[in-house]
Amino acid sequence: MAPLSPFRRIDALRDYVRACRADGHRVGLVPTMGALHAGHLSLVEAIGRHTDTVIVSIFVNPTQFAAHEDLDTYPRHEAEDLEKLASTCATAVFAPSAGDMYPPGFATSVAVEGPANGLESDMRPHFFAGVGLVVTKLLLQTLPDVAIFGEKDYQQLLVIRRLVRDLDIPVEIIGGPIIREADGLAMSSRNSYLSPDQRAIAGRLNHVLRELAEASDPPDIAEAAARQALLEAGFSEVDYACIRDAETLAAPDKQTTRRRALIAARLGDIRLIDNMQAR
Ligand code: PAF
Repeated sequence: MAPLSPFRRIDALRDYVRACRADGHRVGLVPTMGALHAGHLSLVEAIGRHTDTVIVSIFVNPTQFAAHEDLDTYPRHEAEDLEKLASTCATAVFAPSAGDMYPPGFATSVAVEGPANGLESDMRPHFFAGVGLVVTKLLLQTLPDVAIFGEKDYQQLLVIRRLVRDLDIPVEIIGGPIIREADGLAMSSRNSYLSPDQRAIAGRLNHVLRELAEASDPPDIAEAAARQALLEAGFSEVDYACIRDAETLAAPDKQTTRRRALIAARLGDIRLIDNMQAR
């Protein structure tokens, strides 16, 4: 199949969605920042099982990067992304410009508390405000029936579910399972930053996560052991390694029925995150 030609303008996207709805289609949205890998493509295929129209957005969202982060160097490979999407069930690509998404005088923010507090927010305090804002915009621009987000960014998925519920945005949010490399490393566009030596260490993250998720020790003991194991494996810093309530991300208590193990660790400037269901 020939690569799709992306919609650049919001009004063109809206016309397309209107026409698909007139044909009786259910509409799905897969928000991405591009540099697509097998994890993204699995989200496209997963949403294609729920919808007839599958729109993939590609937008490197400046508001979710802090000034010192990698906005300028974030991998951008639009032509390759469009090639990859050509052999999926994607029916359209929306790739707006930053100027159209955030025109001069833009003055609105979206602040989510609850699941946005702690973990990623402790390290990246700007992050969920930026994600909340851009996801709200993408959902209102597309008005999909369903949108899908990868479970790799587990806290982000919970934040988006809460945002959609709190703002009564009429969309179903589904989570897509983490797609991993052969050694367990969760796929991420930022994995391309890893040197061969760092890549070898990165594979340990998932092993330590699994030990944490399966540990029968009290959480504080298991968390300390995970931190130690990550440092011994060669990670330069551990931002968090913890067991949390899978619904609220609060520390688990007697009411907790489902737990999640979550880890974030650094190799030099590169930050890796991963998570899985815990016992
Ligand atoms: O997970 C991502 O790729 C981004 O945070 C998202 C949800 C596309 C918003 O820019």
